[in-house]
Amino acid sequence: MIDPGKLRWVGFNHFEADECGSLNEWQTVAPNATAVCSMVAKLVSVDDFAPANPAKGMMGNEVFETGKHRFRFLHTPHVPHCWEAGFLFEETSGVLFCTDLFHQNGDVEPLSTKDVVGRARETFVEYQAGPLANYMPYTKNTEGELKRLAALKPKVLATMQGSVFEGDGEHVVNDYTALIREVLDPES
Ligand SMILES: [Fe+2]
Ligand SMILES: [Fe+2]
Repeated sequence: MIDPGKLRWVGFNHFEADECGSLNEWQTVAPNATAVCSMVAKLVSVDDFAPANPAKGMMGNEVFETGKHRFRFLHTPHVPHCWEAGFLFEETSGVLFCTDLFHQNGDVEPLSTKDVVGRARETFVEYQAGPLANYMPYTKNTEGELKRLAALKPKVLATMQGSVFEGDGEHVVNDYTALIREVLDPES
């Protein structure tokens, strides 16, 4: 149980209702909690959406420390989607907060040390055939942004939907990059 009085930061990757739609409600019960997001997110959406407590807008490669933890911010426009997207990487434990990357549908275990890319592929293929097609844009920058995430050599891939992966994160991010190319750019 989180003591709301001690909640200091609320981080999210991009501005969507299922990422940060409850920010105002969080800040009502935890008034010291400040949003952490990209500078683009702060300027374009977040400070208008939740004006009571202005966000901490992060620039690419900026680091901030919370005491025990040290977070590096990578600004990754349009990965997984939205101009303001950006990832937090906790450097002391090697946790990459993955938001929509590695999205796996179904009733899966909370933590996996096995390959999660196969299940992520099933979700991508399923979405491509329905109203949620083109979940991620595939641009000339997509693979480069994912390579920057792989180069962090994360030990834990903390996805928002599906099993969190623990293991060789660099390898799994590279496998995921190949999957995205195959599903979203089939002519490559
Ligand atoms: Fe979303
Ligand atoms: Fe999203």
